[in-house]
Amino acid sequence: MIRLVCASANPDKVAEIAAVLDGVVELLPRPPEVADVVEDADTLAGNARLKAVAICSATGLPAVADDTGLFVDALGGEPGVWSARYAGEDATYADNCNKLLGALGALGDGSDRSAEFRTVALVAWPDGRELAVEGVCIGRIATAVQPGGGFGYDSLFVPDDGDGRTFSQMSADEKHAISHRGRAFAALVSALRGPPS
Ligand code: IMP
Repeated sequence: MIRLVCASANPDKVAEIAAVLDGVVELLPRPPEVADVVEDADTLAGNARLKAVAICSATGLPAVADDTGLFVDALGGEPGVWSARYAGEDATYADNCNKLLGALGALGDGSDRSAEFRTVALVAWPDGRELAVEGVCIGRIATAVQPGGGFGYDSLFVPDDGDGRTFSQMSADEKHAISHRGRAFAALVSALRGPPS
């Protein structure tokens, strides 16, 4: 089995990634002594590379990192690469969702609420090789926060491939099957396995 150190220490994300990679990639935890990387690239791939290369260099092992953004059409692609810090440096998930609802509300009733999540997953090897893949999930932003589980903008995002529920109202398996992160890591599994022989 391929062994990769997971650059993320976010338990919400690690659980999702581990579920998708189960049986193909053994995910090793990020060593706690490795400092956080400043994610200051202006693209998802750039941030994923910063994180994967930092963990790979610190451990001497291949590492995988991902970076995700929510791109809202009517807001010119905001919050995009800055999704985690949309409402400020120490913003909570609720702060970010409220800011997004406010920004769309200011555009008036009937305005375009289409959006997409994009995830770039990138593996960096100690010899300098890299592999990057992308997963996309198209949907729209609900008009109010919906209850349920999940994290980030899950309580607002209604995927087009679903049945009208937000990600927060789906089970973890339902979300993985159609989510940006699920798709990115499924693509990563295919790429790591190589073409069928
Ligand atoms: P990250 O690059 O994966 O850390 O994602 C950046 C931000 O996007 C997170 O802080 C969340 O607010 C949001 N986000 C990422 N993935 C998801 C998801 O699957 N659902 C909802 N929000 C997400």
